[in-house]
Amino acid sequence: METGSRRKFLGICLGGVLAGAGGGLLYTIFGYLAPRRDSNIRRAVSFPATDVPAGAAKFFEYNGKTAVLIRQKNGTVVALSAVCTHLGCIVQWQKDKEEFLCPCHGGRFSSTGLVLGGPPPKPLESIPIATANGTITVG
Ligand code: FES
Repeated sequence: METGSRRKFLGICLGGVLAGAGGGLLYTIFGYLAPRRDSNIRRAVSFPATDVPAGAAKFFEYNGKTAVLIRQKNGTVVALSAVCTHLGCIVQWQKDKEEFLCPCHGGRFSSTGLVLGGPPPKPLESIPIATANGTITVG
């Protein structure tokens, strides 16, 4: 192979490698910056109503985050995000006190998610539920 054609061949190979690397880099950047397709999709979750007896809390995964069902003293069931509104720790149910305690900085929430004390700036996020035929559907 002549020197000129060898250079031309190596130039073509190098160009192909650089084009492939550039395309891979752009694909990676786009994948990182583009919103996830299913990020706004809410998937409903269902439980038998008997899973949540009075005063008990049932923790579960809801759209990638921890949530909790609580049956109030009056029998109504509420669904809340279990993610503390301070810095995102998962709250724990204190059955004897009928309130949530955040183990990270001592934030306290009522059984309906209202802030009772500590640093959380706002209530636990409420999640809509529907109850029918002995089934609780969250979301
Ligand atoms: S993260 Fe819950 S009180 Fe700080």
